[in-house]
Amino acid sequence: MSGRWAVLVWTAWMAAAPKLGEPAPEVELLDQETRSLAELRGRQVVTLDERCRPAGLETAKERLGQRGVKLVRARLPGPGGFWLVDESGLLRAREPAPETAGQILSFFEEWETGKRLFEGSCATCHGEDGRDTTQYGVKSLGGVGNRMSRETLQRTLNATMIAPGRYSIRCFHYTERELKALVTFVSGL
Ligand code: HEC
Repeated sequence: MSGRWAVLVWTAWMAAAPKLGEPAPEVELLDQETRSLAELRGRQVVTLDERCRPAGLETAKERLGQRGVKLVRARLPGPGGFWLVDESGLLRAREPAPETAGQILSFFEEWETGKRLFEGSCATCHGEDGRDTTQYGVKSLGGVGNRMSRETLQRTLNATMIAPGRYSIRCFHYTERELKALVTFVSGL
């Protein structure tokens, strides 16, 4: 494929890609009990594309289940991978195909850490859903992941390194891992 075609295909996919922070499009679930995402409202769901065959899937499914997350196989559009859909049916993340199912679990843990940190330090100004604009100068963070890559988002946070591996944003201190987790969570707001 020539470069120009690759760019065209990529642009078309990005335009058609489901938007982060918006209701996840209905997809066909390949699950015995549940056939649609709508039936899973009220639960956190990971939909894993049927083309992915990561090792250790049963264990990951069980471990996610213990944390209240249902993992279901699905027919996802485009490149597949997996999605994280929250209790209200909003698409929180769109991730590439994992090599091992453990990566799905660690991704979820990272996202959860980001959520906890966001609620603890950022929500005072941005609201728990990131969409509060009542405070002076605060813009909605809703859908920010559709406008910026995670790298750009991380730069936008303007974290200052205060010691090796320690960062500060508006007087809150984070480790490198925590900073990454924040970006992962904010990207799905
Ligand atoms: C004291 C209030 C306050 C706190 C706390 C706060 N923010 Fe903000 N945030 C703002 C304001 C005001 C803006 C817009 C002006 C600016 O960029 O400084 C902003 C902008 C942003 C933007 C850029 C949005 C865009 O569209 O360009 C991001 C991303 C962001 N904040 C994330 C965070 C995260 C993550 C945290 C927690 C670590 C956080 N903020 C904590 C007030 C706050």
